[in-house]
Amino acid sequence: MRPLLELKDLHVHLGTLYIIQGVNFRVHEGENLAILGRNGAGKTTLLKSIMGILKPSKGSIKFRGRDITGARLHERARMGIGYVPDTRRIFGSLTVRENLLLGAAGIDKKIIPERLEFVLKIFPDLAKLMNHKARNLSGGQQQMLNIARIIVNPHRRLLLVDEPTEGLSPLYVKRISEAFEVLTREGVTIILVETKPLLVKRITKRYVILSHGKIVKEGDSGELFENPEIMRRYIGVEMRGG
Ligand SMILES: Nc1ncnc2c1ncn2[C@@H]1O[C@H](COP(=O)(O)OP(=O)(O)O)[C@@H](O)[C@H]1O
Ligand SMILES: [Mg+2]
Repeated sequence: MRPLLELKDLHVHLGTLYIIQGVNFRVHEGENLAILGRNGAGKTTLLKSIMGILKPSKGSIKFRGRDITGARLHERARMGIGYVPDTRRIFGSLTVRENLLLGAAGIDKKIIPERLEFVLKIFPDLAKLMNHKARNLSGGQQQMLNIARIIVNPHRRLLLVDEPTEGLSPLYVKRISEAFEVLTREGVTIILVETKPLLVKRITKRYVILSHGKIVKEGDSGELFENPEIMRRYIGVEMRGG
């Protein structure tokens, strides 16, 4: 089967810094991938390169069989790639609904109601908050909105999500993980940067561990639970459920 996404020998420089140093992986449709690694390993840089925010210095990226290495950000977005950054880009003075409509800018107006319905199916918590100003939401609710404003677009096939549960309470970690499960069932494939083993196990099928811009270990996500030494050794995270 043709992979949804394929990286071949990807190298990325940031100015004079050599960050991503020859990364290879394939993601098949429905086979969510976790990207793990310590701070500074290059996880965010890798996501930004897949999205087209950063340009690789060498190597190739294929999406649904097409070489997109040179494609611009908006072309990749149109082809079905969405990026949820680790900094929340929502407008505090606007309501939840207005933030979602901004996320839906450019899509056919006729389908906006069904897209809002879709988003509320993924994040039912947002339904009662539609007319609230985004700045009055809790951190967890803001993160839901941060993800929702990306998936309101109907063409997302691949979602790149950078540390979505960082700093959130266990309740919201659970809610967001449930949302990702529904999203996966709806046909969206997820690449998740995350260090919570429980979330990785629930949401993803495979994992790769990045260290200094290289993949140093990969396998099935369930293995992280059976073998807690992997997390301890490569990431410095002790296994505690969530
Ligand atoms: N804008 C930038 N300019 C210079 N160096 C950067 C910049 N962003 C990140 N870096 C460096 O690139 C490396 C990888 O960063 P990043 O991809 O953010 O890692 P991670 O997401 O795994 O924590 C780090 O060593 C970081 O210090
Ligand atoms: Mg990062």
